[in-house]
Amino acid sequence: MTEFSFNSSKNSVKSKVKVILTDTASLNVGKFLKEEELKALKLAIKEGDFKGEYGKSVSVYDGKNHIILIGTGNKVVKLDIQTLGGKLYKQISKFEKVAFYINPMPKYNLTSSEIACNLAFGLEIGGYSFDKYFTKKEASAYPKLETVEFYAADGKLNADDYQNLCAVANAVRYARDLCNEPGNYLTPEVFAEDIKRLEYLGLKVDIYDEEQIRGLGMNMLLSVSQGSINSPRVAVIRWTGEPDNKHPTFGLVGKGVTFDSGGISIKPSSGMGDMKGDMTGAAVVVATMKALALCKIKRNIVGVVGLVENMPSATASRPGDIVKSMSGQTVEIINTDAEGRLVLGDCLWYIQQKEDCHVMIDIATLTGSTMRTFGFEYAGLFSNSDMMSRDLCRLGEESGEKVWRLPVNKEYDKLINSDIADMKNCGPANAGGITAACFLQRFIVPKNSWSHLDIAGVDKDDKGHPLTPKGATAFGVRLLTKFFGCY
Ligand code: BES
Ligand code: MG
Ligand code: ZN
Repeated sequence: MTEFSFNSSKNSVKSKVKVILTDTASLNVGKFLKEEELKALKLAIKEGDFKGEYGKSVSVYDGKNHIILIGTGNKVVKLDIQTLGGKLYKQISKFEKVAFYINPMPKYNLTSSEIACNLAFGLEIGGYSFDKYFTKKEASAYPKLETVEFYAADGKLNADDYQNLCAVANAVRYARDLCNEPGNYLTPEVFAEDIKRLEYLGLKVDIYDEEQIRGLGMNMLLSVSQGSINSPRVAVIRWTGEPDNKHPTFGLVGKGVTFDSGGISIKPSSGMGDMKGDMTGAAVVVATMKALALCKIKRNIVGVVGLVENMPSATASRPGDIVKSMSGQTVEIINTDAEGRLVLGDCLWYIQQKEDCHVMIDIATLTGSTMRTFGFEYAGLFSNSDMMSRDLCRLGEESGEKVWRLPVNKEYDKLINSDIADMKNCGPANAGGITAACFLQRFIVPKNSWSHLDIAGVDKDDKGHPLTPKGATAFGVRLLTKFFGCY
């Protein structure tokens, strides 16, 4: 991890790599650059016809020192600054020490401190990599970037301002680590142990094992895990940031299928390895809880994650089986690959009945249908609350983790009625993301507010983007931490 220093001095710096942000071709760099450097840069600006366009850069190198000038464009919001940080990471990660010079941007309502902090955030999450399983490390392949120093024209930088964004970056990286971890290492038991370790932050964690889960009556969840030799766990993570507040606790629920083979309704082999990431919802919930604790958010929030492995075996549940959920409703299992809703249904019921939550969000890599609808751009949002939907859509745009609402209504709900039980676990081939949401809604007490985020597709970046390097994205951490006011 890179170390950031928020230095307010305007004096020239010793770093051999200097980066300057600007929205114009004119330079206001105080004593950050030496006379000769300034001259060379001015020439390069002219040659490159640089006008401060977003993401465009001009650089000079005199054999010893590098100077990089990067444009912010002239319509800048915090997310743009974060993205610049992510873009710059590739360019500067080969250096050990880099200095940034920042001018406040009152035109866009951004202070120098906000700019520095959002750059640092972008560098942190854009510079994420998962390399623990390489046994040979080639020095050249690994980034060095050890220190980044920020200098501001107005001298108004403060390390304290970075605390919360740093916590969120830390949570994003933590969730990505969990998601990239393969299924043979991250079993439900190992995942639960990892969650338990978060207690040092002041979170209260309860882990239920198989017997306790059976005692609670979570038979839908158990039906998913019964084919696996890895026994299930349910983790309940509590953050009580406002002990005296008697308002009901906000609930978060995450799908934690540590590997989804499809079970007896087995998936095709191509791409099946991606299903190690079928626990992304759970990782996002756990990481969000971590961030809430790190930021000491003054709210009471409880996270529940259902951790199971979905495998085919002699003990696996079969298509045609009927199981009784914790809510008492019965479910005919049509397809054992529609397992996430079985896990979530019991966890949603649990969080309302045992944790007294009246407002909740669940997050899950739930359906291929939603993935095919939105590709890598949006997550699907399903909700019975217009207010929560509006908030989530707005915060999605702000955080860069965008969500788009789809309907959940009676017409779609009818499609999951069963001939021999209260419902079946999947509907017809079409509208799969919506019928999955309808299934979940059958486990929501009607007076309660609920939103469901289907993050299948956005959970993983196959190409790599400035803020999401190839691999697990941990989609949802930036959105949910914003929702709870971490940043
Ligand atoms: N985990 C998958 C959904 C998924 C697909 C996540 C692609 C990420 C990328 C889920 O458990 C699943 O298998 N859903 C089935 C449901 C169907 C059988 C009704 C699907 O969407 O195909
Ligand atoms: Mg499945
Ligand atoms: Zn799944």
